[in-house]
Amino acid sequence: MRRKVLAVVGARPNFMKVAPIWREMEKKPHLSRFLVHTGQHYDANMSKIVFYDLRLPEPNVYLGVGSGSHGEQTGRIMIEFEKVLSSEGADLVLVVGDVNSTMAAALVAEKLQIPVAHVEAGLRSFDRTMPEEINRMVTDIVATLLFTTSPEAELNLLREGVGRHKIYFVGNVMIDSLFYYLPLAEGTTLIEDLGLKGKPYGLVTLHRPSNVDDIDTLRGIVDALVELGGDCPLVFPVHPRTRKAIEKNKIKIPPDRLRVLDPIGYLEFVKLMSESKLVLTDSGGIQEETTALGIPCLTVRDNTERPITVEMGTNRLVGGTGDRIVDEGRKALKQTAGKRRVPELWDGNAAQRIVQVIDEFLS
Ligand code: UD1
Repeated sequence: MRRKVLAVVGARPNFMKVAPIWREMEKKPHLSRFLVHTGQHYDANMSKIVFYDLRLPEPNVYLGVGSGSHGEQTGRIMIEFEKVLSSEGADLVLVVGDVNSTMAAALVAEKLQIPVAHVEAGLRSFDRTMPEEINRMVTDIVATLLFTTSPEAELNLLREGVGRHKIYFVGNVMIDSLFYYLPLAEGTTLIEDLGLKGKPYGLVTLHRPSNVDDIDTLRGIVDALVELGGDCPLVFPVHPRTRKAIEKNKIKIPPDRLRVLDPIGYLEFVKLMSESKLVLTDSGGIQEETTALGIPCLTVRDNTERPITVEMGTNRLVGGTGDRIVDEGRKALKQTAGKRRVPELWDGNAAQRIVQVIDEFLS
């Protein structure tokens, strides 16, 4: 009998997590795939272009929920997704990561008594001011299959009372995508277009509410980036949330030090990242990708839900204060590439393990 897996994506960091699982499931004709896009991210460069880069098929259903407060956005996703899930039905709902779409879809599925699989379960920053932390905890409480990327994620889940039999340590689908798409990214020309071929440069991403919603914090970080950009030019593809804050507060950025771009495609991004001297970010996934690539990463946060990237990898937490960002940035630029240690099972085969578990669960 054919079994139906319905996957839900909504925001940019979901797309590269689902892509390898979708490809792997295609090899199992007895599993039917149904893709729902909530529309949490809706700009072409936050969604359509990344979908295209990843060769993901058009979603079967697009909910078009757009933005709003957390309550509004989560509520709209739940209302619309419940209609789809009730009419479509599914044997398993697959959610990834920690965005509002992840939690909203997991809650709806659980209430309709459809089992939920959560990819990237058990990550904890222990900082409940982060909306993502709440999303992670709620999703993990309702999930039936919990796929983890690292041993400490399993410990977090066990500590919260999740049954050991529900937890599967499978590795990291972000790294599956990184390894799979990097050769395809060779064809991109953004580095040449920016005149940076063969030159040292850094790469910046910034979008956490804690860094960009408060004007003093944002100004402090941007000033520090501009100063560091005097030592080495920094390329800065700007998230819409951050763009809005920069424009609203009329923050001036000298373009020779900080090259501001619109969000770029996944292939352009991984190519740019793979040749950079240094990455400064507050993203979760980029901490993992830089660890796999052996590129120094300064995380502009006080905590991380991905401590393995600090313990084994190239990641360093520098907080959101200007002086520290400049000092650590200068240190990192002087460093020669260290020894690369990639965490266990970050080997490009996580999706294969996930699909095997799902297949066994459904049969
Ligand atoms: C969301 C996720 C975060 C993830 C990030 C990656 C939640 C709570 N947060 O944060 O975990 O790391 O995505 O990008 O789910 N906007 C646009 N165009 C878009 C998308 C958003 O203009 O395509 C604007 C929205 O109108 C809103 C702001 O950006 O004003 C924030 O969008 P939102 O979806 O709330 O969260 P992100 O900050 O993108």
